[in-house]
Amino acid sequence: MAKQFDVVVIGAGPGGYVAAIRAAQLGQSVACIDAWSNAKGGAAPGGTCTNVGCIPSKALLQSSEHFEHANKHFAEHGISVSGLSMDVTQFLARKDTVVKQNNDGILYLFKKNKVAFFHGTGAFSGQVEGGWAIKVTGKDNEELVAKHVIVATGSSPRALPDLPFDEKTVLSNDGALAINGVPKKLGIIGAGVIGLELGSVWRRLGAEVTVLEAMPQFLAAADEAVAKEAFKAFTKQGLNIQMGVKTGAIKTSAKGVTVAYTDAQGAEQSLAVDKLIVSIGRVPSTNGLNADAVGLKLDERGFVAVDDECRTNLPNVWAVGDVVRGPMLAHKAEEEGVAVAERINGQHGHVNFNTVPWVIYTSPEISWVGQTEQALKAAGREYKSGSFPFLANGRARALGDTTGFVKILADAKTDEVLGVHIIGPQASELIAEAVTAMEFRAASEDIARICHAHPTLSEAMKEAALAVDKRALNF
Ligand code: FAD
Ligand code: NAI
Repeated sequence: MAKQFDVVVIGAGPGGYVAAIRAAQLGQSVACIDAWSNAKGGAAPGGTCTNVGCIPSKALLQSSEHFEHANKHFAEHGISVSGLSMDVTQFLARKDTVVKQNNDGILYLFKKNKVAFFHGTGAFSGQVEGGWAIKVTGKDNEELVAKHVIVATGSSPRALPDLPFDEKTVLSNDGALAINGVPKKLGIIGAGVIGLELGSVWRRLGAEVTVLEAMPQFLAAADEAVAKEAFKAFTKQGLNIQMGVKTGAIKTSAKGVTVAYTDAQGAEQSLAVDKLIVSIGRVPSTNGLNADAVGLKLDERGFVAVDDECRTNLPNVWAVGDVVRGPMLAHKAEEEGVAVAERINGQHGHVNFNTVPWVIYTSPEISWVGQTEQALKAAGREYKSGSFPFLANGRARALGDTTGFVKILADAKTDEVLGVHIIGPQASELIAEAVTAMEFRAASEDIARICHAHPTLSEAMKEAALAVDKRALNF
């Protein structure tokens, strides 16, 4: 006998599990199905983000940053360390503990909110009386019927043609977060977010890291001034980033990987490494949904096709997160999940794509929200710009971390904040103020007139806002 629910969510990543909780909060009967298993075969809800994405990468970034601080930066504070050593096995074990805490946290939240969880793959069987029939196969085997279905099946790493991931020498993000020992030479294809974050982890631990990027322009999505500063900082730290390359034959052997490539000047080159991370973007995960059989429409790139409110072409079937258009970010997935749960409940769920922040957790950190200067120029929009360097910020000096700046772009006439770009310490936290300001359609003068605690890094935000009006006080 099939179990009937108001809402069945397929996928328990940040999009799916949050949608399930919000729908349950609103009084719906909810089930969430997720296929991810941990090493012991147990349920591991949380999706890419929790298991092989946001959370484990930040755990390893933290461990490797501690090591780099002890190794290179303690001395200037008068702290000497002798016999400094690292234990990568312990780094990985700690990371796994952090992941498990998050998996368990989600299972607890499901119980607390009375969301029924099924561990297995969810697939459409067809339309039946009362909604959509969904079949669960795996650890749990069930037939469910849902009035509404939310597809939140996420994404998976894109492989290079003819170079499947073996997760031993050719690594996706999954294998790159589990290298048990620092490789002497590490190659990375793609200088995007994963390449830079995970490249930083293994570079800090002593690997010689070479990143091969196809595009001529570094971090093309970021503001050009930020991208320029970042390239300088990463190169100085020792990341060898080759832009504008074209990769050729890639050969794997017991010893490692050899990548043939043409560099930006047109010269043939060869890179021999112990391990190769391929981080060239991600593809939507729709296998296993039985999408074809029920006529669930995908777009030309394989994403589930949705309207602005995440409705698919099928009645009462919605889709959120990485499996639909838009940035592949956990917080974007969460916002869509909440909005859809509210729409199902007859409310007006809302996602403002213009205020979805981006963060790259390198050192220095990079964050931004809204438009870049090059995008404003291209659109012919008249704007004012104000920047403030962390070099002139007292707290940054005390921290010993003065790389970077805050840059604010505001409309030339109305002064409305159009974009905020940060590179520097705690950029990931500082961007929240800019997001809040833009959500409230603040002017740069609003930020300039807000009292910011002293000494804090956030004063750089106030000073950048003052600089828009050419009246920075400390620079
Ligand atoms: P996912 O998290 O991919 O979850 C989908 C879930 O659905 C998975 O558990 C999958 O097993 C399950 N599933 C798929 N098909 C089925 C099926 N048929 N039946 C049942 N279950 C199914 N984003 C950030 O915002 N900040 C970061 O710092 C960040 N760091 C990242 C670092 C790395 C290394 C990577 C790879 C990604 C990172 N991301 C980050 C991106 C972020 O992980 C994704 O945007 C986010 O996980 C998308 O959430 P989602 O719910 O759409 O999908
Ligand atoms: P990405 O899209 O960020 O970067 C991929 C890079 O690979 C691009 O610069 C692209 O030009 C390059 N590339 C593509 N094909 C290539 C080829 N054949 N040879 C050389 N270079 C090539 O993708 P990435 O790093 O795989 O990450 C996937 C997504 O995961 C990100 O876009 C982001 O949405 C998410 N993510 C978010 C993080 C965060 O928010 N901090 C951290 C990590 C991932």
